[in-house]
Parts: sequence; C-alpha cells; structure tokens
Amino acid sequence: MRVLLVGSGGREHALAWRLGLSSALTELHAAPGNPGIAALATCHPVAADDGDGLLGLARSLAADLVVVGPEAPLVAGVADALRHAGIPVFGPSRAAARIEGSKAFAKEVMAAAGVPTAALLDSPRVPCVLKADGLAAGKGVVLCRTEAELARGLELARTFGGTVLVEELLEGVELSVLALCDGSDALVLAPARDFKRAYDGDAGPNTGGMGSFAPVPDVGAERLDELLETCVRPVLAELARRGAPFVGTLFAGLMLTADGPRVLEYNCRFGDPETQSVLPLVEGDLLGALAAAATGSVGGVALGRLDASAVTVVLAAGGYPETTDRGTAIDGIEQAEADGALVFQAGTALHEGQLVTNGGRLLGVTATGETLAAARSRAYAAAARIHIAGARRREDIALAAVEAETGGPG
Ligand code: AMP
Ligand code: GLY
Repeated sequence: MRVLLVGSGGREHALAWRLGLSSALTELHAAPGNPGIAALATCHPVAADDGDGLLGLARSLAADLVVVGPEAPLVAGVADALRHAGIPVFGPSRAAARIEGSKAFAKEVMAAAGVPTAALLDSPRVPCVLKADGLAAGKGVVLCRTEAELARGLELARTFGGTVLVEELLEGVELSVLALCDGSDALVLAPARDFKRAYDGDAGPNTGGMGSFAPVPDVGAERLDELLETCVRPVLAELARRGAPFVGTLFAGLMLTADGPRVLEYNCRFGDPETQSVLPLVEGDLLGALAAAATGSVGGVALGRLDASAVTVVLAAGGYPETTDRGTAIDGIEQAEADGALVFQAGTALHEGQLVTNGGRLLGVTATGETLAAARSRAYAAAARIHIAGARRREDIALAAVEAETGGPG
C-alpha cells in the first residue's frame, strides 16, 4: 500500500514510525514531513494546507491512502478534494471537521446527541471558561476563577473577535479518548492523558501539550467502553444524521468530574502528544485499521494493545509557548534511542547536516515499560541524554499517576 502522510509534527513522526511497522506498507510519503520523518518516508515540499498540491501529489504517487495529521487542513477541507478524486482518506471532511473547527457547532451537536458537557452560561461571571469559537491552537480558552482572570479573558476574547462561548468551569482530571472512525463505527485506542500547561504543577499558560502518558490507570476496558458509548458514538450518529459522517480520528477531550465525565472539546484528528504515547501500545495492523476506517469498514477490525505503559516527555524551546527557537543544535538523539526510547521530532530542521531547533515544541521522547513508573523513568533518562541549549521540559509528566499507582513518590 502506498501511503501519503500529511503534516510535519511529532504526531506525524509517530504515525510514520508506526505505519512503517505494517507489512502492508510498500511506500511511505510525507508532505511536508520533517527531518525525523525523512528517515522513514520520502518527504515532498508540499504544505499541509495546500489542497491542490496534495491532490496533485497523491495522484502522481498513485497513493492508496492519504492520512491527514493536523486539524487546519482538515477544517479547510483538504480531505474533500482528495475524496472527490476517488482517493481514500483517513481524515474528516470539512463539514465533519467543524466538530473541532467551531466550538459553537460542537456544543450544538453535543446537545442534539445528548452528550454530557459543560453547561453554557448566559453571561461571563466567575467561575467560568471563555472560549473563542474558531481554531486557536489551544490558545483560545481562558479559565476565569478570579475577576482579574475574567477581565484578561474578555480582553483576549476581543482580540480573537467573533463568537465567544461562556461555559461552566469544571473541576476534575482530564482524559483524552481517541477513536478511529469510519463514519458510523468506531475503534477506541488506549486512553491517554496530556499535560497542557507550560510548567510543572499545571502552572502557566496552555500549550499544545508538554507530555502525555497512556493508558490511564483508573480507566479500564469497561469504563473506556462506557465513554465510547456516551461521548463518541452519539456524536458519530449525529454527524452522520446531518449528512457529515466523520471519517478519521475523533478525539474526545474529557473532564472526569465528581458528577461523571463531561466533554470539553472534540478534536478531528490524533492528539499531539497523546499519539506519541498511544501508538507504541497498539498491537496489530494500524495501517489496515486506518485504511478500513477510510473505506467504511472499521467495524470488522480488531487492534490489540500491549500490556504496557508509555510516557512522552516534550522538549520545548525555553520561551514556549510565547516564543520559538531556531537554529540551536540538537544533540544526543542517538544516545536516547540507544537507551530504548523513541524520539519523535516536531520543531526541527537540518542545517548543513546538523539537526537544529525550528519551533516551539522541539522533540517528544517516548518510552514504554511494564509499569507506568518504569516507562516514566526510562523516558526521563532518555530525555536527559538530549542536549539543546536553552530548551526545557516539564519534570512532572505522569508523576501523579505513578505516585497513585505506587502509593508514594515515584
Ligand atoms: P479546549 O480547547 O476546549 O479543550 O480547552 C483547552 C483546555 O482548557 C482543556 O484541555 C482544559 O484544560 C481547559 N478547559 C476547557 N473547558 C473547560 C471547562 N469547561 N472547565 C474547566 N477547564 C476547561
Ligand atoms: N494534546 C491535545 C491536542 O492535541 O489538542
């Protein structure tokens, strides 16, 4: 099978790595890819949001499947053009991707589907959450616990313009549920947790994600199934009813509250950095599952899951999420890999043969282990082998879960 993978982040590097393990894969191409992906695939200089360019590339490669990683091209409709041309695509249409592209649309679908979510409030008052309606790369949400935060949130909302939703502020722990969907059926992957805040102890601004782990210890098979039934399948049915069947990864971002699970948001694609922790645990033919989803038959697919845990630690530019870094040397990836870790590249570039920084989130270092504690210590040991001047990481990825599992500081 000839596959074209669209995107250039850590999520896509993880997908390239995992798809590369499939015996059905004959050729892997990426657009545009990154230096890490280039070691696994043929990269083409076509931007992820260049719909015409992707269509031309997919045609010239005679791609059997296109897998689209990031949300922006999906929300812009790149999957539609490919599908109209008869090319199987793992990724939703523009109409179905609105579930991520518009928070107001997502709320409307959730209400129609009877999915538990945060209540909408008539007017902003503390405590509440303000959400800009459109895509904002994780920066369009402001939690307002104090009047000062509310004032700042309203100011930010004005800079985003457009509709701003005001909703109930929920307390609890978050969970990411990723399901491979074929328009009507869904296959759920390992439940994951990501760490959105910039600094240890969940301090600082929201980021794209500073780390992740999977599976989440207190979410067993039965609970995961319940979440699939209450938070994923009803939305699939509602989108299909509206003539916008969802094909791709439907990612439910949940808050597990004292009153039960509540959906905070849907994403129309694999999570980043959840994917880096979830895919190493997949047993079986991931490519076959994506191809089945793209052609409407994920119902017949079963994927196993390794009896193990995975932890991903993101190495980011020192000033991330406010600033990015370019041109600083990245060293030690081979040593980290020799320790048994997977190193997924995100914001990197090659400059005269040297791998250098090129973005905010630079690398994800993933390790697996029989226990979460083992995976965590391996991931941090491997991350310590990598040297990037001025870069930083959170030190507490998966720490609370390990402490809960082992009954003490891990
Ligand atoms: P979203 O883009 O909607 O997922 O929001 C980004 C992050 O903001 C979430 O992952 C949560 O950490 C937080 N968040 C969003 N909505 C709520 C809510 N209603 N209550 C508490 N936290 C929220
Ligand atoms: N890690 C959260 C996201 O991918 O949106």
